[in-house]
Amino acid sequence: MTTIKTKVGIIGGGPSGLLLSQLLDLKGIDSVVLERKSREYVLSRIRAGVLEQGFTDLMREAGVGERMDREGEIHDGVVISDNGVEHRIDLKGLTGGDTVMVYGQTEVTRDLYDAREARGGKVIHDADNVQPHDLTTDAPYLTYEKDGETHRVDCDFIVGADGFHGVSRKSIPADQIREYEKVYPFGWLGILSETKPVNDELIYARSDRGFALCSLRSQVLSRYYVQVPLDDKVEDWSDERFWDELKARLPEDVAARLETGPSIEKSIAPLRSFVCEPMRYGNLFLAGDAAHIVPPTGAKGLNSAASDIYYLYHAMIAYYDEGDASGLDSYSETALRRVWKAQRFSWWMTSMLHQFPYHPEFEQKMQETELDYFLGSEAARITLAENYVGLPF
Ligand code: FAD
Ligand code: PHB
Repeated sequence: MTTIKTKVGIIGGGPSGLLLSQLLDLKGIDSVVLERKSREYVLSRIRAGVLEQGFTDLMREAGVGERMDREGEIHDGVVISDNGVEHRIDLKGLTGGDTVMVYGQTEVTRDLYDAREARGGKVIHDADNVQPHDLTTDAPYLTYEKDGETHRVDCDFIVGADGFHGVSRKSIPADQIREYEKVYPFGWLGILSETKPVNDELIYARSDRGFALCSLRSQVLSRYYVQVPLDDKVEDWSDERFWDELKARLPEDVAARLETGPSIEKSIAPLRSFVCEPMRYGNLFLAGDAAHIVPPTGAKGLNSAASDIYYLYHAMIAYYDEGDASGLDSYSETALRRVWKAQRFSWWMTSMLHQFPYHPEFEQKMQETELDYFLGSEAARITLAENYVGLPF
């Protein structure tokens, strides 16, 4: 067995784990990232697309903002369409200047991998059977298998940044955590197509046929979603059927100018709200999807992961620079306060914009009135805008 020694052992080479290792490295704090999959596999997953300002600031602080600032698109507003009628939410005007950045998670992750490589960072791919050990001692360690051998990583702290299905959260004794979960009775079918986006800004569309979203990755790459029943399969959805259904849920003028083409990716994601409390067990700290999941309606998944990393990074700097453990001790509480607000917003956006099977008529009326009120009230629009651009860290 080979053993390496580091300060922070990070499980998961997604955006959370990579961003933390990069930020720590710039402050002289050594870490090792263990990733179960290959780099190519991680980069093939199509996920989030909208970054809050707090996230983009953190990317710049990590020295990986250059391509994002060059190629990403600043969006000043989003559109909500209610059964064919478009309403623009002026994010910038309503928040006194805040905006969001459209730059895909794939590109964020690629930039982080490149930066780790350029600095000689230790990111170990194809690490099988990663296991955390001795979490409640001062000498926790990780083991993993690679190329038929078992390896060991000794560290001060372990960060579980291994997503919802990772090993970190599952290694905490069940009586030490509490999990809160809501599973929604539908999923999102998403496609990526090499077509010009139908609109300069994102369109969140509520319609009697179900929710739809028009998003983008660049001016030549579009990302579209439609709400589908949970038991639908990707094979049930030809490209033609997808485009027809999307058009039927959009305002007529938008549908008329929608450029269609072959999909280059098509997948269905179930919608779930989930939080694990606390986000710390001994010297294991959970971050990102390992600790919480949101439905994608408010674009808060990746952004919530980034705020965890912000708190954890600052807590670790205080610990290593000044011997101050107070940030680590309050990490879970501080991170969870923001996590729950992102949960609330995502749940609310999801509840307001989707069609719910077996919704009693009264609930249906409440949903319609909720949206009508929000679109008609300046105060309510400000509430929506300040949450969409992201609450302060
Ligand atoms: P992840 O990105 O999940 O990264 C975790 C990493 O850990 C992965 O690379 C995984 O391979 C690795 N790993 C897992 N288990 C182990 C193990 N045992 N050992 C070692 N490594 C392990 N958010 C939005 O804001 N907008 C969206 O449109 C959106 N779409 C999404 C679509 C899907 C299908 C999913 C699953 C998520 C989506 N999200 C979206 C959420 C967003 O992508 C996540 O919030 C974000 O990826 C969280 O980053 P993370 O680094 O915490 O976790
Ligand atoms: C995306 O572009 O994938 C996207 C954008 C906004 C969302 C969800 C997904 O709310």
